[in-house]
Amino acid sequence: MIILKSNEEIEGIRKSGYILARVLRELAEYIKEGITTWAINKVAEDMVRKLGGKPAFKGYRPGFSANKYPFATCISINDEIVHGLPSKKRVLEEGDIVSVDMGVNYKGFYSDAAVTYMVGNVREDVKRLVEVTKKALYMGIAKAYPGNRIGDISHAIGSFVKSYGFSPVRDYCGHGVGKRIHEDPAVPNDGVPGTGEMIRVGMTLAIEPMVSMGSPEAVTKSDGWTAATKDGSYAAHFEHTIAVLEDGPEILTPWDKDA
Ligand code: MF3
Ligand code: CO
Repeated sequence: MIILKSNEEIEGIRKSGYILARVLRELAEYIKEGITTWAINKVAEDMVRKLGGKPAFKGYRPGFSANKYPFATCISINDEIVHGLPSKKRVLEEGDIVSVDMGVNYKGFYSDAAVTYMVGNVREDVKRLVEVTKKALYMGIAKAYPGNRIGDISHAIGSFVKSYGFSPVRDYCGHGVGKRIHEDPAVPNDGVPGTGEMIRVGMTLAIEPMVSMGSPEAVTKSDGWTAATKDGSYAAHFEHTIAVLEDGPEILTPWDKDA
């Protein structure tokens, strides 16, 4: 069931999203060679709490898992796609690409966003993967107009990344968000234009392309959470929470200084 939000509810999600965006922007300074993903997670959690929000993933049990997620963030490096677990043993190295995915609960309003950061100098082809994935997010958002369909968003993302020879990761989707962290509808990262749910005013969506340089297939690692590419190729991930307004999409998690 899709939950359409009132303007008051969208304002709550906007406040939530602004906290999250600020954290993701400020986190850039910490994503350096030598820091552990454990430390990044702690900085992010502390920042959210200081800004009056709560980390929404911590203690949340997503539909795909039997267990509650134990951390504020998911941190996924290189061939890892999503749901990577922060660890004291995982130290960032030059050339890594690091997706930090986080949810915020502000007074019961949920936002969800992710950024893939680059550590120092990154290989040219990997840099292009990151740039194309980010651009794909905006291509998808640009289709989030009332009267369009979810498949229009999916197709915009999928066709764009495939035109570079990259693969949208299979089986991982965006989703509705707002009163909960995961709501209907699913927002796939590839699809057929003109198909799927009608996009309506008051929809709030987490759009999140996950893109592999190689195989579109994902496998779950033995920790039960981390999704990685099957063939070990690098993957990137960017996510915004958006609201569909009468005159089009509004980004509720404005983490992007360049947008
Ligand atoms: N942003 C993630 C997603 O949409 C949410 C992860 S929930 C967690 O899949 F419990 F795994 F953290
Ligand atoms: Co999400």
